[in-house]
Amino acid sequence: MDLLKDKVAVVTGGGSGIGRAIAELYAKEGAYVVIVGRREAPLKETAAGDKKISYVVGDITKSDNVANVVNYVKEKFGRLDILVNNAGWCPVQPIKEVTLADYDKAFDLDVRALVDMTIQCLPLIVKSKGNIINLSTVGATHRAPNLSMYVGAKAAVENFTRCWALELAADGVRVNAIAPGAIRTDIWNVTNLSDEDAKKHEEGIAATIPFGRFGSPTEVANVALFLASEMGSYVSGAIYAVDGGQGAA
Ligand SMILES: NC(=O)c1ccc[n+]([C@@H]2O[C@H](COP(=O)([O-])OP(=O)(O)OC[C@H]3O[C@@H](n4cnc5c(N)ncnc54)[C@H](OP(=O)(O)O)[C@@H]3O)[C@@H](O)[C@H]2O)c1
Repeated sequence: MDLLKDKVAVVTGGGSGIGRAIAELYAKEGAYVVIVGRREAPLKETAAGDKKISYVVGDITKSDNVANVVNYVKEKFGRLDILVNNAGWCPVQPIKEVTLADYDKAFDLDVRALVDMTIQCLPLIVKSKGNIINLSTVGATHRAPNLSMYVGAKAAVENFTRCWALELAADGVRVNAIAPGAIRTDIWNVTNLSDEDAKKHEEGIAATIPFGRFGSPTEVANVALFLASEMGSYVSGAIYAVDGGQGAA
């Protein structure tokens, strides 16, 4: 349908999971998509699937790597229409075990890097009257035990989204967030829990989902397409739940 024909998008964490599904759908809809991550292999594999996808390898918790992404976009395309702040990490730990190093790791990526990426991309986004999509989580408003560092960070992301939507409305820039529920991706494989505890954690979450199943990355990407395209032209400051009804309770 070419809903994003000739738009330029950056998707952080676009080599896997939700970010990859968003990058692939945006490219299918006509956008040039730049994906970013620390590991080259998944980025390369994603880019190999569509000529409109290219990548920059980098750790976005480092400001100079964020600058590399922005410079790449400027040099290659000279414009940026859509920023998807998708890269995130979800520590699963009881507060009795959390250390400040854990706090730093969660907030460095889920909050600080997202702010850095936004600040550095903003001049281009303002120039194109583009839009920003931040990835939150259903947990930001419907908390669960052992996720405090993660849901605390994502609560900040939701409030950034609303503040930035207000501040940037006069520039014609829309800012929205997506709050996924349980989506089957690698994020579920990298918790600090043992295999047995991770399985119990997942089963506990699945039991709270009205749809009775995990979602797919594509189901999140479909909403990211709506928000990024002209179909979402009157939507800003919104937090879209994509959670099989989990957050409705
Ligand atoms: N899956 C879910 O159930 C779920 C639910 C709610 C919210 N979310 C949110 O959705 C977003 C995507 O998560 P996902 O489930 O798709 O997880 P994922 O597959 O683990 O993707 C995370 C991506 O972030 C990248 N990344 C991590 N640290 C990075 C860094 N320092 N610099 C650059 N890139 C980095 C990873 O690539 P590298 O490792 O190569 O850097 C990876 O591609 C996250 O914000 C997450 O919090 C997911």
